[in-house]
Amino acid sequence: MCGIVGYVGKREATPILVDGLRRLEYRGYDSAGIAVANGQGARLVRCRGKLAALEKLLAVESPRGLTGIGHTRWATHGRPSEENAHPHKSGSVSVVHNGIVENHALLRERLTAAGRHFSSQTDTEVLAHLIDQALIDGASSLPEAVRQALRQVEGSYAIAVLSDRHHDEMVAAKKASPLVVGVGEGEMFLASDAPAILDKTRQVIFLEDGDVAHLARDQVSITNLAGQPVERRPKTVTWTPGQAEKAGYPHFMLKEIHEQPRAVTDTLRGRLMLNNGDAVLWEKEVTEIPRRMVIIACGTSYHAGLVGKFLIERVARIPCEVDLASEFRYREPVIGPGDLVVGISQSGETADTLAAMNEAKARGARTLAISNVVDSAIARTSDLALYTFAGPEIGVASTKCFTAQLTALALLAIHLGRRNGALDDIGAVRFASDLIQIPFKMSETLQLVGDLKELARKHKDAHDFLFLGRGSNYPIALEGALKLKEISYIHAEGYAAGEMKHGPIALIDDGLPVVIIATKGNSYDKVLSNLAEVRAREGHVIAVATKGDTEITKYCQDVLWVPEAPPLLQPLVTVLPLQMLAYAVAVVRGHDVDQPRNLAKSVTVE
Ligand code: M6R
Repeated sequence: MCGIVGYVGKREATPILVDGLRRLEYRGYDSAGIAVANGQGARLVRCRGKLAALEKLLAVESPRGLTGIGHTRWATHGRPSEENAHPHKSGSVSVVHNGIVENHALLRERLTAAGRHFSSQTDTEVLAHLIDQALIDGASSLPEAVRQALRQVEGSYAIAVLSDRHHDEMVAAKKASPLVVGVGEGEMFLASDAPAILDKTRQVIFLEDGDVAHLARDQVSITNLAGQPVERRPKTVTWTPGQAEKAGYPHFMLKEIHEQPRAVTDTLRGRLMLNNGDAVLWEKEVTEIPRRMVIIACGTSYHAGLVGKFLIERVARIPCEVDLASEFRYREPVIGPGDLVVGISQSGETADTLAAMNEAKARGARTLAISNVVDSAIARTSDLALYTFAGPEIGVASTKCFTAQLTALALLAIHLGRRNGALDDIGAVRFASDLIQIPFKMSETLQLVGDLKELARKHKDAHDFLFLGRGSNYPIALEGALKLKEISYIHAEGYAAGEMKHGPIALIDDGLPVVIIATKGNSYDKVLSNLAEVRAREGHVIAVATKGDTEITKYCQDVLWVPEAPPLLQPLVTVLPLQMLAYAVAVVRGHDVDQPRNLAKSVTVE
């Protein structure tokens, strides 16, 4: 969940590294550092804090050299501090690392007993010592020293390694953390995420687990950990660097909220057949109808899964459970052949989801990944992958990936329903034409909702918020509460509206804003009763309601209008005002919306 960059070529490395780190800062931001090598060895500059702090140091004195590595960190082992910031150096070797060395304590003990001195609390530092020791012990080259070191390591890593003695080359290796090599003309780039280097080159090699890549100006050679050559061809990446930038919005989150109609369209593109209502998801017909489905995910992706249950059960009539990935794997799940386990993950890297998918596979279930990152770890480990095409999501708070996930789940429900006969011809065509309308309804919603500054000012000092919803809008209440919590730092709870009288009603007084999703549909009357119960106790009601509903205004102080949509697809529009509300409150409170405290974009540790 940290960011890695590397460069070897004909230009000064420092500005290239800093530029790459800026694009990766969302992956971790509690400290940053670079190491740049020239004939005199590698020089390290690192500090606690965001990249801006590192840039200040570099403005005073910038290390010169044509080869370098850089890192932005999200602390796992050792608090955020300068000594724990990467790169870590031991002897002649400098290393940056994402992931976790699981046997670091044992290795540290052994290395310390052999007389090595550690200067940080990180697990990463053992890698620098192991590689340095391998060179001292006579490893024939830097790649060979890295291989020898990694053969002793358990856990996950993406690393970039520089040596004082080999100043015009670099070694990179990965296991369970992403790493890509960018192939330029007389120069090579390295990054944990392709957008960091896309303005430099579109020719990208996606390294695979066990790969050790040796990068020099004009060539990259890859071996496995045993030293046998491996062939990896560069792929042309079509994401433009501009897609990964803010495009005029003050924050990535706001940009990404507004990108949702496009993200949903791209996820539907080429898959939804309007003539017969089918969803074609894979080139070959690979579908087996499961007897049961289990969706596993974390955070926002879990909320998408909860909506997915409604879609799958209603449209395909297949029983579907939803579980938190972190719970699933430890409860000895009853799962096996005949089950389809769907892992949903924006990043495709989330450690809990990856482990849960592996658990499901080991028990004989078929696995399907819904991921926004092509070739992600979770996608690669699964039998099938269904990609959302939301483009890179930079804001830590997930928005466009959530609605793209809902879209992918709707497609999956149609796909299965058509194949098991649960969805008939007429129903299929109707559902497909409703679904294709959703991006337009999303655009309309964003216009109707506006910027919500006034509403945010009114509630910026609230200590708590309650979010209520029923049916497929209950997961949207959970998602609204999560969005508000993570960027405004206001405590918020999501509840099934019908559960309110079983406890949360005790919280209601004139200081509690209650957001109720009260759109027209099956449970409208019941939600109105819940709303009246809140009003009777002086709660401040903010309703998400269907445009044109004149009744609702009698019961609430504020209304966020959305266009009419079929109940099953409503979550795709009702979530938008809640995302906007969370955004507006966070901005009014002066928070760092895109990089909220204590969070990171991909959670690659358990
Ligand atoms: O990459 P994933 O979808 O697997 O991530 C799961 C959660 O960590 C993520 O959704 C998190 O809850 C977001 N910060 C929510 O906005």
